[in-house]
Amino acid sequence: MKATPPHPRLSPPALVGPSRARVPAAHAEDIHQILISAPRIRRRVEEMAHAISEDYRGERLVIVALLNGTILFLADLIRHFEFPLRVDLIGVSSYRGGTSSGELEYTKRLKLDLKDHHVLIVDDILDTGKTLRAVTRELALQKPTSIRTCVLLDKPSGRSDSFQADYVGFQVPHLFVVGYGLDYDERYRNLPFVGVLQQHIYEPETPAHP
Ligand code: XMP
Repeated sequence: MKATPPHPRLSPPALVGPSRARVPAAHAEDIHQILISAPRIRRRVEEMAHAISEDYRGERLVIVALLNGTILFLADLIRHFEFPLRVDLIGVSSYRGGTSSGELEYTKRLKLDLKDHHVLIVDDILDTGKTLRAVTRELALQKPTSIRTCVLLDKPSGRSDSFQADYVGFQVPHLFVVGYGLDYDERYRNLPFVGVLQQHIYEPETPAHP
C-alpha cells in the first residue's frame, strides 16, 4: 500500500457569480438569486468523485463527513465511488457569538477506528477554516495513514488562517449561502441549488422584494 495518495488530481475550482438560472417561484420569496444551479453542482460533484476515486482506489479509505450541512453533498459524492470504503459522521458546532468563539463542541463523535486508514474529511463549506483545522487535528490523534479534506464550497474571503482544502468544488464570494445541504436556521437544506438569501430573511425589518 502506498504511504500517501498522490497529489489531488482535481481541476481548480471556479469562482462562481450569480447564475442565469431562475429562482423557482416556490422559493422566490426567500431566495434572492441562484449562485450554483443543480446541473452545475451535479457535474462538478461527478468530477470531484472521479478525481477522488483515482487517488484512493485500492486504498483503505474512511470518509468522515461533518453533520448536518454535508447531507446532500455526501450522498451524491459517494454514490460514484465504485470501490470499498467506509463512511462515518461527526457532528460539530462552533460556539458562534459565545464567549469561547472558535471552540468546537462535538454533538456526535466518530465510531470508526482510523488507525492505518486514509481519511477524507468532507464538509459543506470552508469559511474561516477553524472547523476543518480543529477536526483535522482531532482525527490525526488516531494516527491515520493520511488525512485530506474535501469541501463543496470555499469562501476564501472568510479565512482567518491559511487552511486550504485538498478537493474544492467551487469558490463562492463573501455571501451567506444556503441550499444543497446548507441552512439558515435549519431551513433550505433541501434546495437542489446553492443560492443567496433575500435580505428580509436575516434582517426582518427589511421589506420583502416582490
Ligand atoms: P469555518 O468558519 O469554521 O466554518 O470554516 C465552516 C462552517 O460554518 C458554516 N458556514 C456556513 N453555513 N452558509 C451556511 O449555511 C454559509 O455561507 C456558511 N459559511 C460558513 C458551515 O456550517 C460550515 O461547515
